[in-house]
Amino acid sequence: MTRLVLVVAHPDAGSFGHALAAATEAAATAAGATVRRHDLYADGFDPRMPASEVGTTTFADALTARYAAEVLAADALVVVHPVWFFQVPAALKGWVDRVLREGVVYRLGGGGAVEGLLAARAALVLNTANSPLEVEEGLGDPLDVFWRRVVFGYGGVRDVRRLRFAKVADSTPAARAAWLEEARGAVTALVSDLRHGG
Ligand SMILES: Cc1cc2nc3c(=O)[nH]c(=O)nc-3n(C[C@H](O)[C@H](O)[C@H](O)COP(=O)(O)O)c2cc1C
Repeated sequence: MTRLVLVVAHPDAGSFGHALAAATEAAATAAGATVRRHDLYADGFDPRMPASEVGTTTFADALTARYAAEVLAADALVVVHPVWFFQVPAALKGWVDRVLREGVVYRLGGGGAVEGLLAARAALVLNTANSPLEVEEGLGDPLDVFWRRVVFGYGGVRDVRRLRFAKVADSTPAARAAWLEEARGAVTALVSDLRHGG
């Protein structure tokens, strides 16, 4: 059984991001995966790292400890978030800071070597945005750098896929339906690729 962690970082349950998360979860389940959802706002996750977690591998609360255990057990990670200031929302940055910590998902060796500790073999990032992709690329593609090279690069996940849906504002129902279908297709392919050793 393929184990997925689905991270959702959006305060509005009526957002398109939440529709993407629901579609993704349904498609993954239909493809035979088990899904553990980290709905950061609904779960009341506190993104502020407490002093007791700085430089340690302990977790200050049960929710964060559960998140970390599920991330470490996952075969793949799916993250759904809006593009905010060409970055992740603060709640999600806190999830990265507190859950994907040094000593938990990666180790630093001598000479700048990084050892990824994640068992997950693949990741899928689904973004909602309003600006065209070229604007983001013109700024150095900060989200691609963050997810592909920094976060999953450090964790040792080499297969990183990303879909970006824009412009969400003023999008038609038909456009949204097509995006939801694209997201379903992406997660179905992910689960299938994992099952077949891809
Ligand atoms: C605080 C904030 C910052 C935002 N920054 C960006 C941005 O940098 N680039 C962009 O394309 N859209 C930006 N947006 C627009 C959101 O990405 C957009 O509203 C959202 O993706 C729409 O999808 P949703 O229904 O899932 O919220 C921003 C929105 C907010 C609230």
